[in-house]
Amino acid sequence: MDKILIEGGRPLKGTVRISGAKNAALPAIAACLLAPGTHVLRNIPSLRDVDTIKKIMSQLGVQFRGEDGTIEIDAGEVRGYSAPYELVKTMRASILLLGPMIARCGRARISLPGGCAIGERPVNLHLKALAAMGADLYLEHGYVNARAARLKGTTIFFDIPTVTGTENILMAATTATGTTILKNAAKEPEVEDLALLLKSMGARIEGEGTDTITIDGVDQLKPASHTVIPDRIEAGTFAIAAAMTGGEVKIEGCRPEHLTAVIEKVEAAGARITNEPQSLFVKGPSAIESLDIKTMPFPGFPTDLQAQFMACMSIARGWSMIRETIFENRFIHVSELKRMGADIDINGNQALVKGRESLQGAPVMATDLRASACLVLAGLVAKGITEVHRIYHLDRGYEALEKKFASLGASIWREKG
Ligand code: EPU
Repeated sequence: MDKILIEGGRPLKGTVRISGAKNAALPAIAACLLAPGTHVLRNIPSLRDVDTIKKIMSQLGVQFRGEDGTIEIDAGEVRGYSAPYELVKTMRASILLLGPMIARCGRARISLPGGCAIGERPVNLHLKALAAMGADLYLEHGYVNARAARLKGTTIFFDIPTVTGTENILMAATTATGTTILKNAAKEPEVEDLALLLKSMGARIEGEGTDTITIDGVDQLKPASHTVIPDRIEAGTFAIAAAMTGGEVKIEGCRPEHLTAVIEKVEAAGARITNEPQSLFVKGPSAIESLDIKTMPFPGFPTDLQAQFMACMSIARGWSMIRETIFENRFIHVSELKRMGADIDINGNQALVKGRESLQGAPVMATDLRASACLVLAGLVAKGITEVHRIYHLDRGYEALEKKFASLGASIWREKG
């Protein structure tokens, strides 16, 4: 298995370009199932999760062409309606195919995603909403089976603002009869981006980006072209890394308006940040200041940057309290950070971090994507060499992360194993 090695202690300097957002690319690709014909999607990152969704859809007869960020998706013929366990177990976001498959094929059979490293992560709200829209659902041999000749619009209240749940039902509702109203919907930029794509396919949607989204069903959608938004989590990861290393980094091709909560916290940690419409310039401080964070749905501080921020706080002056409110088990990076000398106590969903003057390089292992990124950031400032194992998690969601850090002057390389 490949590993990443980092010799810490170099400030990052230079310019980095942000890739397309994983969590916008996945629903965009899934959405192409909704309409026959050839769609064009731009700014698609080269990631393992993207390969996984392409593999599942290829098995359904969908054809993919193109590379380097622009792909053509021909969903002219859809032959199957099943997403198998072998692929779904490697990527929970495969559940995003449920809504489009029922809408397009009238049926779907998708392996139920199990728990994962960051928590139980049920999909009950996706299923409840589809049932309310008239789908006949049952669970058999670990698969969700769903049928509906045509879904019916209705009002759906999400108990929790779920991102992929909102996206699934948004897609399913585009061709339902009548009007669907999603209340307490997720407001994440990735949901908004999906709505934009669906509208260019002919869907009638209002209110995306707010907690109430209204969808007037249409009979048929048409293929479309769309450029997915930049990855705000990747941009945030580089901003935190620039601050931690006392570097000077221009983060190009991002959307600062998607990063307001993150920018505020990185500035409070001592960095100076200059915003331009499509870029950020981050100048790290000589010493990181401690502060508290609480993860929240958008526009709050994202859970997907909590681990990276904890790495930053572990070298801050003073104490910080980090509260995780989205997932119940998203502190798996803590024990590995402690192996690098971090001083962190966990109490339920709170982590109390006592900043240390420095961390030490160590062999570490992560069990989830963002936890791996946190260990890479810790490695960038640690004394000596850090070896990050199981980096297939990183490859799921960060495009060429070690190459981008190396281009900013970090001493970081991958060893094939
Ligand atoms: N939840 C339920 N029932 C449901 C759905 C969600 O109880 O049916 C709960 C979850 O267990 C969690 C909360 O609701 O406690 C919010 O989860 P959400 O459904 O919003 O998460 P998700 O849609 O599964 C997406 C991202 C995650 C990101 C979260 C939160 C994608 C493909 N995944 O997951 O990204 O952490 O939203 O912002 O969009 C990552 O990229 O590393 C990642 C995990």
